[in-house]
Order: sequence, then C-alpha cells, then structure tokens
Amino acid sequence: MQIEQPFELVLFGGLGDLALRKLFPALYLLELDKRLPKGRILAVGRRELKRPELLGKIKSRITNLDDATWLRFEQRLSYVSVDVQQVDAYQHLASELDESCPNRLFYLATASSLYADIAKNLHLNQLIQSSSKVVLEKPIGHDLASAKNINKAVAEYFDEAQIYRIDHYLGKETVQNLMVLRFANSIFESQWNQQYIDHIQISISESLGVEKRAGFYEQVGAFRDMMQNHLLQLLCIVAMEPPSKMEPDAVRDEKVKVIKALRPIEGKDILDKVVRGQYGDGVSEGKPVPKYRDEEGVDGQSQAETFVAMKVEIENWRWAGVPFYLRTGKRLAERACEIVVQFKEIPHSIFAMQHKETMANKLIFRLQPDEGIRLQLCEKKIGSGMNVRPMILSLNPDNPSQDYLSVNSAEQSTNGHVTRVPEAYERLLFDALASNPTLFLRDDELMQAWDWVDPILAAWQESESTPEPYTSGTWGPAAATLLLAKDGRLWNENN
Ligand code: BG6
Repeated sequence: MQIEQPFELVLFGGLGDLALRKLFPALYLLELDKRLPKGRILAVGRRELKRPELLGKIKSRITNLDDATWLRFEQRLSYVSVDVQQVDAYQHLASELDESCPNRLFYLATASSLYADIAKNLHLNQLIQSSSKVVLEKPIGHDLASAKNINKAVAEYFDEAQIYRIDHYLGKETVQNLMVLRFANSIFESQWNQQYIDHIQISISESLGVEKRAGFYEQVGAFRDMMQNHLLQLLCIVAMEPPSKMEPDAVRDEKVKVIKALRPIEGKDILDKVVRGQYGDGVSEGKPVPKYRDEEGVDGQSQAETFVAMKVEIENWRWAGVPFYLRTGKRLAERACEIVVQFKEIPHSIFAMQHKETMANKLIFRLQPDEGIRLQLCEKKIGSGMNVRPMILSLNPDNPSQDYLSVNSAEQSTNGHVTRVPEAYERLLFDALASNPTLFLRDDELMQAWDWVDPILAAWQESESTPEPYTSGTWGPAAATLLLAKDGRLWNENN
C-alpha cells in the first residue's frame, strides 16, 4: 500500500533518545523502501540547534547508509526550537507548517506530563486541523488517575479517532505473524485453550542497563516502562478471541476483553505473584558493569525496580487454570524476547521417555534478537529401539538453515525475491501516516490496563519491602525462579 497524500510530521522530543535511536532510523528505512510520500519531518526540541547539527546526529544513528537515500531523506528534515510549555513559542513552529497539508501528524515523544500542555498550545496556535493526528508514546501517565487526566486533556483538542497511542511491540513482525498463525490456520485454534495448554511464558530480557536514561527510568521503573504496556499487549494478542474482522475496533474490542478478564492482583497476592528486582554489579557481555544505584544520574538509595516477574491469570472459559508468567528486566543474561506456549504433557506414554515433562510440545514465538517461530515436537531417534527425542521444527521455511530469521541484517528470501523484515517503528509510523489505528491502543484499553496495575504500584509505594537485588548478567532474582518452581515449572532459558 502507498500513501497518496503529502504529509507533515512534527516530532516533539526530536532530539531525545527515542527519536534518534528508533524514530529517525525507522523513517529513513521507509524512505529507503520508497514508502514515504511527499512530505516533511520537523524535529522539535527545546534547545537551539542548527540544521546541520541535527542532520549529523540523525545520520550517525543510521546503519548501512545508502548515499542516494540519505540525500532524499535529509531534504525532508528540519528543526524548530520550541519551549513546549510557552504558548507563544509555537509561533515559530506555525510559520514552518503548511496550512494546506492534508496529513499532519504530531508525534509526542516527550515525558507524558507534557502532553496536555502540548495539545493545548497546539490548539491555541490553531495548528490542529480536523485531519490532524497525534501519536502518544508510552507510558501515558504514571497511574490510572494521571493517565485519565492526560487522556482527558488531550481529548479536549483531538477526537479519539485522531489519537494514536503507540506500543512498538505491536509493530514487531512476529507479533503480527502470531495473529496470522492463530487466525489463518485452523489447527492451532482447537488446541489454544486450557484443555491443551499448560501455561504461557512471555519474557523480554535486556542485557543493557539503564544507559543514559536514568532521569526517565528513576520515575518509571520496569513495571511502568515494560510490564504495563509491552508485556500486557503481547498477552492480549496471545489470549484474545478471534476478532470478527481485521479492523481497528474489532481487534481492540477483543484485547480489552482480555484485560477486563485479568484476575486482580491485590493484597497478599502481590507478594505471592509479583517479584521485583534491581540489578547489582556483575558481568554483562563479558564486561564488568556497575550496579543500578551506581549508574549515572541514579539515586544511591533508589528503589526503582529494573526487573519484574509475575504470574497472571485470565478468568474466562478459554484460559481458566492456565497461568501466564511474565518477566522483564535490564542487565539480564541475554537480550531476548520470547512467547512460549507450553502444551500439556501427553496423558500416558507408550514409549520410554526419559524427560517426559520437558518433551511436551512447545510453540515458541521469538521476537528478538532474531525473529521466528519454532515448534517443539517429539521424534524417534534413528536406530534400533523406540527412543524418543525432541525435534525442533522451524516454521520459517524461507530460511531453513536457521532456527530463526534474523532481523537487522534481516532479509527473508521468498522465491529468490529478497524482502527486508521491517522494524516495529517503521510499520507503526507508516500505519499512523496511513490513518490505520489497528495496532494502536484505544483509550478504554489503556485505562483498563492502568486499572489492573494500579493496586500493585500503590502497594509497592506503601510497602516497606524493596526490590530484591540480583547480579547483572544473570536471569534476575532467585524469587523469580521460585515463582515458577513453586508451581513445578521452569523458565524457558537457553533455548
Ligand atoms: C522501550 C523501553 O519502550 O522499549 C526501553 O522504554 C526498552 O526501556 C525498549 O529498552 C525495548 O525495546 P526493544 O524493541 O529494543 O526490545
């Protein structure tokens, strides 16, 4: 699909970590694929900056730069300095915009506490047209009350249909493939329930620490940064009922139903079902690394959690009795993101199987660092006797030599034709420009998610307990292993 109308993208937080690390490179890739229509990109930041400096910053973040593409791309880029809390400061921005542009997209990649001011000041400067859209980065707010306030303030100037709440995990190729696998095949649907599935694990582990983002992370922590959004969204895609159509509200209705069916975790359950940790010093990727509290900009007494693991239950017919174990953390043993659907053991084995419990079928959706889907089955070991062993079937036959498709070097060959696997932000920026909100969150979805996590955050705030320390370069605190061990299960590691 191509977008016909010319666009104007106004990127607030245009010099921030997210913009430089993910958004500009994603826009560049759209340029590379010739998918960007005619249009301009205006980076908005607080400080004064000359355009060549902006170009230098962006260019240095692009890998495998193609000169001809860059020449086209840089023509689109400009910079405006705006103090977003000052209504008059937007005059400068107004003079840069083209009133007749039919596709104006404001992207707010700043702290969400600024969203209300930005929306209001855009309105006061008459920069919002009926066709304008606004993308809101996560996390929106820090609890239910603040999220409601931000939502309400933004909704004064933008209709719900103009608001795109982004969660970039929904833009990952394997997440969409998960939907296709579930809803374009009949063989999985009959198994996709409590009768056949033992449990599900969703794990996003990072080997990096907090990097230069202490200012943000100290306020937010792993729960608001990752759990409340990315992990819950992945859970929704795994657990939702088949939508009646691949249309924005049909998909989002089903996701909301999942969040509404989450069993509340409150009171004593919080201690039993949620583990939080903070990294201590250790070794990551072969190098010694400091503890979180010694990172630049972090308070020496910080209570921010850099790790969360939890056991979640969904109260409906499909999932009753099937635990979902969610886990995320920084400075863990490796960077990986996986959804593991663990099927039940066979009820009775007629073969000699040494490890019956580990031989149960598994479907593994790997989102990173390499993308792909694998199915663990059992097969006969060649030779005499009837010995059974696990066999891994890669469901990416385009690339049979690898277990998983790789993403960044990222090429998938189909009948000799090479297709690059798109980055998550590339897909979502394109969808926002094309006015397709299917993979963006609706307001009720966001509010339901905050409603569910609020008691946990409030209990932590009131409690005297602190995050459990763990050694950098490991899989997190011992309590996370125990969370599964007490149910007789193990995390899927080193696969
Ligand atoms: C962001 C978080 O939303 O996701 C970061 O704010 C995290 O803390 C990042 O590092 C992980 O994204 P990805 O796509 O690199 O796994």
